[in-house]
Amino acid sequence: MRIITVSSGKGGVGKTSFAINYALNLSRQGKTILIDLDTGTSSIRNTLNVQVTRDLYHFFRKGYRLDECITTLDRTIDPKNRFAHFGFIAGPKRMIDDITNFNQERRNLLIDAINGLKAKYVVLDLKAGLDANVIDFLPYSNTGILVFTPHLPAATMAASDMVKAVLFKKLRQIFIKGSPIYSELGIDAMFCYRLNELIDRVEDVYDEEFENLDSLLVWLHEQLGEHRVVQLIAHTLEYFKTYFVLNMFNEVRESYDKAVQPFVENIVRNVSSRINIINLGWIIKSEKLHQANCQAVPLPLYDDVFKKPDKTARALQKLDIMAQGLRAEKRGRVTIPKEYTKPDPGRQLERQLETLHQLYTRTRNISIEQNFEYITERSLYLFQGRRVSDFGDNRLFKPGEILEVLFQRAE
Ligand SMILES: Nc1ncnc2c1ncn2[C@@H]1O[C@H](COP(=O)(O)OP(=O)(O)OP(=O)(O)O)[C@@H](O)[C@H]1O
Ligand SMILES: [Mg+2]
Repeated sequence: MRIITVSSGKGGVGKTSFAINYALNLSRQGKTILIDLDTGTSSIRNTLNVQVTRDLYHFFRKGYRLDECITTLDRTIDPKNRFAHFGFIAGPKRMIDDITNFNQERRNLLIDAINGLKAKYVVLDLKAGLDANVIDFLPYSNTGILVFTPHLPAATMAASDMVKAVLFKKLRQIFIKGSPIYSELGIDAMFCYRLNELIDRVEDVYDEEFENLDSLLVWLHEQLGEHRVVQLIAHTLEYFKTYFVLNMFNEVRESYDKAVQPFVENIVRNVSSRINIINLGWIIKSEKLHQANCQAVPLPLYDDVFKKPDKTARALQKLDIMAQGLRAEKRGRVTIPKEYTKPDPGRQLERQLETLHQLYTRTRNISIEQNFEYITERSLYLFQGRRVSDFGDNRLFKPGEILEVLFQRAE
């Protein structure tokens, strides 16, 4: 099973539109469940014109198992039964406070239930922004898919702040007071205290001495030398991956200037220059998509132009965009410089611009349906032959579990 989250820094960027179309396309490869975790807006059930008999209300209040709350498409919306492997779990019909804003206990309950689902893909449509109901569902070693658009620059900045939040969540879990890591790595209580204080200072954007995690790393390296703790943080950064999809894409220049560049620069400057930032593709602005949303019939069912994904995959291979910007970079042993230098996003930006150009020259004439198909195909390419924790994950983690996993996976 692969769990992929879809999230955004601010609302209205097209998360739900993307999540639905992405999940539908993935379901051509195997059983796919889309879960509406933006539980206040019931947006998925409003965008899919099917009768919902059970939703998250029934899971939380009525004791149903999560898999009993799955709704599948019926013959009126999918007459040819082309999406038989697709199902969704709707949010409650109306705002119900303790289900709309669930607490830690409910989150844990849901996390266990999601981990227990039997599906090939699980797609989570999350709330906009960052609260515990978002952050607890994000994977630990990558961002899942972040959606932003050149039309809403504030959402792009907020999306890059999410990258920071996910990384800090992980670091805090690792270095929490009393963490077994201290005895494991032979670190005393005083240093533990100091380290947590430093993590706070790096996270504080007003603190200019520790600009980002690269500067923390250099400081730690100075203090500890080639200590495992230094390697652990370096490794965490080096292998962390950020994925994004540009919605309402509008030509290379505008999308680069108004979305990709500020996103990359903010991450490199405020988080770390070591992080891998990956463009999964874009979606054009489309009246048809909007109509499909409004009429609650998903795009691939909207008319009969749907082409089989394997055909698209072949077409994409021919266009040579399948792996564009997705090939794993060789990352050898992590080296940490002796001195901290101001981060330079130049190399990352060059790569992003190259990917944008390549994708654009090769796909500028494809349809809105193919936009979603090619993002799906590129995701499938990532699923193959990579570690599960590279893109999404095969399970969600409750607070505290990450340490166990970290040690297991590091071995
Ligand atoms: N590529 C697109 N072309 C045209 N309209 C779009 C496109 N993407 C999204 N929209 C429209 O923009 C609006 C917001 O989209 P959507 O609901 O998917 O965003 P969201 O990020 O899930 O919002 P929220 O944060 O409120 O959940 C909808 O009316 C949708 O139809
Ligand atoms: Mg939404």
